[in-house]
Amino acid sequence: MARKVSTKKRPSRDKIVLNERFKIESEVFDKPTLLSLMRIMQKGVINRMEYPISTGKEANVFLATTSSEQSVAVKIYKIETTHFLRRKEYLEGDPRYKKFRGRERDFVFAFAQKEFKNLQICERAGVHAPRPLFLEKNIVVMEFLGREGRAYPVMSTVGPAEGDLESILEDMRKLYRAGLVHADLSEYNIMVWEGPPYIIDWGQAVALGHKRSEEYLERDVYNILKYFAFFGLNRDPKAILAWIRDDALK
Ligand SMILES: Nc1ncnc2c1ncn2[C@@H]1O[C@H](COP(=O)(O)OP(=O)(O)OP(=O)(O)O)[C@@H](O)[C@H]1O
Ligand SMILES: [Mg+2]
Repeated sequence: MARKVSTKKRPSRDKIVLNERFKIESEVFDKPTLLSLMRIMQKGVINRMEYPISTGKEANVFLATTSSEQSVAVKIYKIETTHFLRRKEYLEGDPRYKKFRGRERDFVFAFAQKEFKNLQICERAGVHAPRPLFLEKNIVVMEFLGREGRAYPVMSTVGPAEGDLESILEDMRKLYRAGLVHADLSEYNIMVWEGPPYIIDWGQAVALGHKRSEEYLERDVYNILKYFAFFGLNRDPKAILAWIRDDALK
């Protein structure tokens, strides 16, 4: 009997190599995420996925390598999670997403997009945050904060160094002037090394037009000051808030 010739298009050589490469990861990533990762690779943004740096409820962060052997961080928001629905307030109230309606998956994409846009605002405003490199659906590629494949620690694990509080407060002020509030600022979302501390995790950060942005700012200031007070650095939250808001100019 003659062999049936498949009319299906053969996958390109590139695709086969990528599929091989993802055989292991495919148990970790869902299909749309795998396709997005493939697109990111085909566009030459990254060359290899290395290993997970962090696995969380909403997102996993991986180390990846570019074709020029540079390390980058790849944050993949989980599509199959209901955690985002609880964080709806950060999206719906944001004037940038006022018209947003969608399925759960679109909600996750919007969160990733918001993190990427917020990182771009940080870059322009000179706030210490990872440099945004690429966005694809639920995946944010950004500057890797670490050395020799190891991420810098978060402040909660190693404590603050001299000058850290000033740097963070300066960043909060610059951010506010750029029209943003982080809204989840704490020692868990600050990475430290010998230089100034870096603020991470920007998906929930809201524009000042959000009706609760001032409340979030107060919470951020309170969290940071409470943490530093534990190390003997005491600041008056009211004075800090007035300084961030630049009340004298209003
Ligand atoms: N740009 C980066 N470079 C190096 N490591 C990073 C980078 N971004 C995040 N990480 C690592 O990944 C961890 C989680 O990142 P992030 O806080 O952005 O995600 P998350 O959504 O809060 O995850 P979780 O659900 O675990 O809280 C950080 O604590 C840090 O260790
Ligand atoms: Mg975090």
